[in-house]
Amino acid sequence: MSDKTEKNVQMENIVSLAKRRGFIYPGSDVYGGLSGTWDYGPLGVQLKRNIMQLWWKMFVDDRDDMHGVDAAILMNQNVWKASGHVDTFTDPLVEDLETKQRFRADHLVKDAGFAVDGLSNSELNELIIEKQIKSPNGNELSEVRTFNMMFTTTVGPVADEKSVSYLRPETAQGIFTNYKNVVDTLYPDLPFGLAQQGKAFRNEISPRDFIFRSREFEQMEIEYFVNPANWEESFSALLKDIHAYLEALGLPADKIHELEVPENDRAHYSKRTIDIEYDFPIGREELLGLAYRTDFDLKNIHENAGKSMEYTVKGTNERFIPHVIEPSFGVERAIMAVLSAAYREDEVNGEKRIYLAFPEHLAPVKYCVSPLLKNKPELVAKAREVYMILKKKHGNVMWDDNGNIGKRYRRQDEIGTPHCVVIDFESLEDNSVTVRDRDTTEQRRVSIESLNG
Ligand code: GLY
Repeated sequence: MSDKTEKNVQMENIVSLAKRRGFIYPGSDVYGGLSGTWDYGPLGVQLKRNIMQLWWKMFVDDRDDMHGVDAAILMNQNVWKASGHVDTFTDPLVEDLETKQRFRADHLVKDAGFAVDGLSNSELNELIIEKQIKSPNGNELSEVRTFNMMFTTTVGPVADEKSVSYLRPETAQGIFTNYKNVVDTLYPDLPFGLAQQGKAFRNEISPRDFIFRSREFEQMEIEYFVNPANWEESFSALLKDIHAYLEALGLPADKIHELEVPENDRAHYSKRTIDIEYDFPIGREELLGLAYRTDFDLKNIHENAGKSMEYTVKGTNERFIPHVIEPSFGVERAIMAVLSAAYREDEVNGEKRIYLAFPEHLAPVKYCVSPLLKNKPELVAKAREVYMILKKKHGNVMWDDNGNIGKRYRRQDEIGTPHCVVIDFESLEDNSVTVRDRDTTEQRRVSIESLNG
């Protein structure tokens, strides 16, 4: 099998496992779906929460220079005019002249084997004509035009220009618009960061690659406010912190790459951006970004909202608008990286096995508890006892008494449960149980007491 096909197969296996075992389902599936949306099932929601809580712990709870905010998704339209999103948050769009289907022009050009980084719309247009690039249906394409990716809505009973609002395309603006509120209430010393996790929406022209590029997704963002004289120091420190988080996600270091984004490819607000790319099964793609947003956003608010965004250094008359370093994570991309890093296939007793080798702190289910036989009430009663002890301690513990033990182990391997506890007749005698390890498949005999230790 070629490398590319192998990667596609791995991606298909992950998507199929995610649906089959209740991690991630296509959105609105029962009505035929809604492109670019995904729903999380019982295991998916737990995995997602574990990834988000780990981020919050490492970037907020464990530090004394970070604070949380949680802003509304709907914001005054002036936010998006001042931020530049109304004018410039666009993607290059082409239309299949026969079917009227729409595609990202840069994706089609890239798929045809040409470099697209930093190309303007007219350069993309020229390449499409010169290289005779067609739509995936083999038809002629329209001229490239810009397409604004924000979802527009109206707020309140009257739909007119003044009531226009947008589903936020980034959580960042909810942080910038609250910067002054936090300074006035907490008066934190510079440098300090404001962190937010929440939904964001982008009307992607062609959502694709499972949850990698979806229209509704979740972000984890920090705006780190600094004295402009010290921005480089904070940029480097945050880059280090990002790598520590990626390591805690269990992502192998040799699959993580830093890309210094060239000027003509950076977002309109950024003076320096490092994209952290990851070797996903779909290829090397952006996992997250670290951008030096300068004072672009606070200055815009300062000028457009008529409110001072200046910070006065405590005990001095020194005043300035802080500059900002922004680490911006997409939760779905982190989930996809974690799933693909954890996905393993091997052979146990001559049979193919699929398992997810999640780091224990991310596993949606930490323990599975089973009685050896489900028709022996004394074993079931003892197993329920152990189940309740573990559930009280770890929360996410599963009960499974279906089928034989081998099948139970396979089911738990597939969802990445690190430990399977089995209660047998010996347990009734000496209060010991068998604990089977997901990765090595080895079994140990331990006391129930030690499980609770
Ligand atoms: N706030 C940066 C981004 O959403 O890409």
